[in-house]
Amino acid sequence: MANFLLFLAAAIAAFLVSSAAADSSTAKVVCYYDSRSYVRETQAKMLPSDLDPALSFCTHLVYGYAGVTADSHKLTSLNTNLDLDQGHANYRIITQLKRKFPALKVLLSVGGDSDTDDKEKYLTLVETPEARTAFINSAVVILKNYGFDGLDLAWEFPKNKPKKIRGTFGSIWHGFKKVFSGDSILDEKAEEHKAGFAKLVQETKNALRPDNLLLSVSVLPNVNSSLFFDTHAIMNSVDYVVLDGFDYLTPERNPKEADYTGPLYELLERNPEYNVNSLVSWWLRNGISGSKIVLGMPTYARAWKMTSDSAISGVPPLVVEGPAPEGPYTKQEGLLSYAEVCTKLSNPNNPKGIHTHLRKVTDPSKRYGTYAFRIPDDNGDNGIWVGYEDPDTAGNKAGYIRAKGLGGIAIHDLSLDDFRGLCSGDKYPLLRAAKYRL
Ligand SMILES: *[C@@H]1O[C@H](CO)[C@@H](O)[C@H](O)[C@H]1NC(C)=O
Repeated sequence: MANFLLFLAAAIAAFLVSSAAADSSTAKVVCYYDSRSYVRETQAKMLPSDLDPALSFCTHLVYGYAGVTADSHKLTSLNTNLDLDQGHANYRIITQLKRKFPALKVLLSVGGDSDTDDKEKYLTLVETPEARTAFINSAVVILKNYGFDGLDLAWEFPKNKPKKIRGTFGSIWHGFKKVFSGDSILDEKAEEHKAGFAKLVQETKNALRPDNLLLSVSVLPNVNSSLFFDTHAIMNSVDYVVLDGFDYLTPERNPKEADYTGPLYELLERNPEYNVNSLVSWWLRNGISGSKIVLGMPTYARAWKMTSDSAISGVPPLVVEGPAPEGPYTKQEGLLSYAEVCTKLSNPNNPKGIHTHLRKVTDPSKRYGTYAFRIPDDNGDNGIWVGYEDPDTAGNKAGYIRAKGLGGIAIHDLSLDDFRGLCSGDKYPLLRAAKYRL
């Protein structure tokens, strides 16, 4: 009898797993294209024509990023010379990619942490019906003028405050207690802004519906979902929600501590909310159907400086000393593209000295992510620790999406994947690996 019950339980579990799996033919692959890559140098400079090899894998292409004006609350290009017809006409060049890829949906994204001037305006915009209407009307005009298929609201809400989490070893978690006791209020009017944003979503969808235009909402890294998103109010107005479950720790926010930036599951002695599964579970618990959830994945690495105080094992969380120096092509401290990381890794067939190349540490548990590091030299210089996604971890994230029956994956972004095929010869290896496992 016990055996039979066990068998029954196993059969039911197997059934549940198979029925939860997303249908790979309908899974979304939402590819972000950050147009700031246009002005990077040499190898990292990306032109719209470089997108071609990616687009047979993408169901959606999202052009980032537009902003909003502080005074008139309108959607506006953040780089008119690049985006608009009087300049390089990137908006139009991008939407015209649909001629070659007829099934592709092309959206314009607003916010995305790229509109850095006066973030308050994202809050004041949702406060009044007049401001919301001004935004919506201006957005509809731009979408229709340039032939976009929809809008992505990557709204710039206040972010959780970064906390120094390392105390004495063994009491790392202790430092968090304060955060939860509610003494760090991010936004006194969070309730009002949550309600205003829900109205913005509903009103925007109503304005887009007659033209069959799509509306997505992006939850940016370190934005607390429970403070700013009224899931029940927005769920019928969004086509999908992109959850950016990464950048929980970044060199800018956490200069003294390096860690996995987008683990799938909770790690010991970390904030239990700083992982993909916690974020996804919150949205599912709050009534969004899995098929409307698209999980965001970064293509870039976060890089910190290892010092003589860092544990030479490289095991995170690790004491570090600020952002690593900028990469040769991306030129932004604390960040490296996947191509900049892979070309630095030591090749097992041709091991180089520990002071030149990076040693890669994989994740057989498939739960946390990959990292690579180089310990500092005798002068204490040149140490580096990078947390990043590789084709294996991208595949693991896709596997998670499939197992949970989610709607798909979002790639942040195409310009920081290896779009030239420098790592293995294949262009866009992270995008490919994710798509293959969906
Ligand atoms: C998010 O906000 C809720 C309260 O609404 C709080 O309980 C939770 O700890 C916050 N999460 C983070 C990571 O700050």
